[in-house]
Amino acid sequence: MARPGNRWHDRAIAVPTLCFQDGTGVTRITAPALPRSYIPQMNSLNKQFHSRWLHGPSVACETFPPGAHLPWRIVLLGAPGVGKGTQADLLNQRLDACHLSTGDVFRAAAGRSDADQSPAMKEALGYMRRGELVPDSTVWDLVRERSECLHCAGGFILDGFPRTLAQAVALKQLMDHEGLGLTAVVNYELPEAEIVARLGGRRTCEKCKTVYHVTERPPKVAERCDRCAGKLFQRDDDRPESIKVRLEAYKRNAAPLIEFYAKARLLMQVPATGTPDEICDRTLPELESRRIRQFAHLMWSYEENRRD
Ligand code: AP5
Repeated sequence: MARPGNRWHDRAIAVPTLCFQDGTGVTRITAPALPRSYIPQMNSLNKQFHSRWLHGPSVACETFPPGAHLPWRIVLLGAPGVGKGTQADLLNQRLDACHLSTGDVFRAAAGRSDADQSPAMKEALGYMRRGELVPDSTVWDLVRERSECLHCAGGFILDGFPRTLAQAVALKQLMDHEGLGLTAVVNYELPEAEIVARLGGRRTCEKCKTVYHVTERPPKVAERCDRCAGKLFQRDDDRPESIKVRLEAYKRNAAPLIEFYAKARLLMQVPATGTPDEICDRTLPELESRRIRQFAHLMWSYEENRRD
């Protein structure tokens, strides 16, 4: 059964029909979709996929249920604090694609004992605390080690990666090599003053990592997570001096990255004003139509190859 009140979820599993001319008339193509019975199972599996991303390839990952499903492969761009993590969480709930955040991987490593942290990871955590970007080579090692997550049958929402042109080029080369394509790259835009206000008021659950805001998205019980009652904390890099460094790093790197994805015709510009649900509702229709176009393209190629 689909989750109640989740209309996009219902739409995602409804069977869309696409039409095209094949020379002899109109042919109807039915887009692959997952049977409804898979849905609850997929939700619980998503959490396990997420833990594989957080802890690396040695963590066992359950096999995704088989199904002819065209996966969502989405990249989220935008300044620190614009709301990427919040949107990734909502997109995960509505599309069932796994939320893969490089920042979460570093924070998970920070929670491990000193002995369990490699020298490269210790160095990376130093950059993170200061608000600086971790060097491309360290980030790339971490993503490449988890490249199996890019093949996940449920798809993925990459949050915080790529963040530099070099990372975007490396991701493209890897995905081309593995025969994978992106559905879309969403760039969230918001004035800097609002970004700083969002970062200053952010609180995160120490257990399940759900994100709150002291005034905009407060928990029902002060300092406690609504989902798991875990204690809420303020991130080290949300101190004013780190926020400044992070915003400067973003400004240096954003333009070439945005240009790269605009040239690849993958870029979607989305204003990040309004409530999280409003932003998500603003994003989903174009994501849907891009995926339908991608599917139509795949079917065209399939038909072409079949006729040759
Ligand atoms: P990372 O964890 O990726 O942080 P970030 O990109 O700086 O983004 P944030 O998590 O701070 O913000 P967000 O956009 O997700 O906003 P959120 O949804 O939380 O990276 C951390 C560090 O790791 C980097 O600085 C770097 O050192 C390192 N790193 C990671 N990836 C790297 C890479 N690829 N290369 C190099 N280094 C890397 O929302 C913020 C607040 O606003 C919350 O309180 C939320 O409740 C609130 N909010 C959200 N939406 C709304 C809304 N619509 N209205 C009102 N409030 C809202």
